[in-house]
Amino acid sequence: MEFEHTSVLLLETVDNLNIRPDGIYVDGTLGGGGHASEVCRRLGERGRLIGIDQDEDAIRAAGERLSPYANRVTIVRSNYENMDQVLKELDIQKVDGIMLDLGVSSYQLDTAQRGFSYKEDAPLDMRMDQRNAVTARDIVNTYSEMELYRIIRDYGEDKFAKNIAKHIVQARQSKEIETTGELVEVIKTAIPARVRFAGGHPAKKTFQAIRIELNRELTVLDNSIDRMIELLNPKGRLCIITFHSLEDRIVKNGFRKNENPCTCPPEFPVCVCGKVSRGKILTRKPILPSGQEMEANKRSKSAKLRVFERV
Ligand SMILES: C[S@@+](CC[C@H](N)C(=O)[O-])C[C@H]1O[C@@H](n2cnc3c(N)ncnc32)[C@H](O)[C@@H]1O
Repeated sequence: MEFEHTSVLLLETVDNLNIRPDGIYVDGTLGGGGHASEVCRRLGERGRLIGIDQDEDAIRAAGERLSPYANRVTIVRSNYENMDQVLKELDIQKVDGIMLDLGVSSYQLDTAQRGFSYKEDAPLDMRMDQRNAVTARDIVNTYSEMELYRIIRDYGEDKFAKNIAKHIVQARQSKEIETTGELVEVIKTAIPARVRFAGGHPAKKTFQAIRIELNRELTVLDNSIDRMIELLNPKGRLCIITFHSLEDRIVKNGFRKNENPCTCPPEFPVCVCGKVSRGKILTRKPILPSGQEMEANKRSKSAKLRVFERV
């Protein structure tokens, strides 16, 4: 199967990275290498791109896509939460720009056997990194009802979370839930018919929640923002594209905290905590895709780009 994925906010992101032809850049979510190839195109002979992805298929696809730029690209299979370690091993201390384009690629969603999609029946997997032992099947069949409720409520923001968790636990008492199709059927029984036939797919939010929990998506993002900013040279930029409000909130707050880290009580006339700003937010409001892009690529509709510049 071809690796198909249309890059979201492509020019907006790469323009905001402010590429210097001899600079060093990191794409922490390389995917099919769409953004990365635009970065490489703007790099000169001495420029460098480090591309990181935890997914084996993405690494292979990006390797092919970026082969014309092989002299300036290093591809590493890892989690972007290990970015400092990855760079250290390459003997790189600081970089001029870092980008993240979060979530799953269309290729991952469309490859049924990866188990991300509620539209096709396949083993419940959802691992972005196929080397990990734990899969969505383990979450669905071993988490307590309370834990399932918590993740479907917090990561899926589904108002039927309580009922869905209850139905999952009931269903698995007679037989393990093994496939995406079986899980979809259980979720359908937990949602009132009038809701099921209106709006989006009834399983969409629960699938999102399980995927986020399994791949620790929000924890990884939250743990990484300060460290990525620390890796930037002065004037270096961090560009992050998010796809839902939970991710966007983490980025917005993480950037704010780095712009103004002072923890002194507001009534103090001068700062005594000594925490100094590490840069500035360049996007008071996030950059959104144009109407034309949203029209052409449905996946881009919820995308938001935020940019931070290091002092
Ligand atoms: C939306 S796609 C990126 C598409 C890419 N920008 C392009 O234009 O082709 C997201 C990619 O990030 C990867 N990914 C998500 N979270 C990751 C993490 N914590 N560490 C490494 N890769 C991650 C996924 O495996 C997926 O391939």
